[in-house]
Amino acid sequence: MLTRVAELIAGLVPDNVDLLKALHRIQHEFTYIPREALPLLAAQFETTPALIFGTIDFYSELRQAPPAQNVVEWCSGPACLLKGSAGIRRALEATLGCFMNSQSADGKAELRLVQCDGTCHLAPLIRYRGRYLGPLSTSEAITFARSLASAATPAMEQTDFAPHAPITELEAAGHAPEPGA
Ligand code: FES
Repeated sequence: MLTRVAELIAGLVPDNVDLLKALHRIQHEFTYIPREALPLLAAQFETTPALIFGTIDFYSELRQAPPAQNVVEWCSGPACLLKGSAGIRRALEATLGCFMNSQSADGKAELRLVQCDGTCHLAPLIRYRGRYLGPLSTSEAITFARSLASAATPAMEQTDFAPHAPITELEAAGHAPEPGA
């Protein structure tokens, strides 16, 4: 693994832009940034492992562990908060069995805090596999989370689960990122 990390960061120079480039490359390759890569990164960018760790910890998009089977992204932006996203967060945490930015004990679900990406007309929303679900009610959030916890098809992928906003329209308009983006 360290050999591959060394290949990925070879030629990058010690400035902040290149550090982020290195972190993105490593995460793209391994789905997260292994702790073992920190000394290598520190040497490449002429700094300390602590500074590298601080950078990784600062950006919520950078992962320090492999993702769970199902990653649910909860928007922490102001429009979502004003429209009741705090209740949705509590419902997701209780139903999925994990707190924000952690995974359930069985590794089936993970809750991630994300920032507003400009899709506030869907507030309050969550994102799942690159798709948007919103405006979301607390009961819809619970239904969705329960479907992840069980072996059933996630509610968002069921044809009879209809959030207020037509997800397909969003995708057609090119507002939704590709799965895994
Ligand atoms: S505040 Fe949630 S999408 Fe903008």
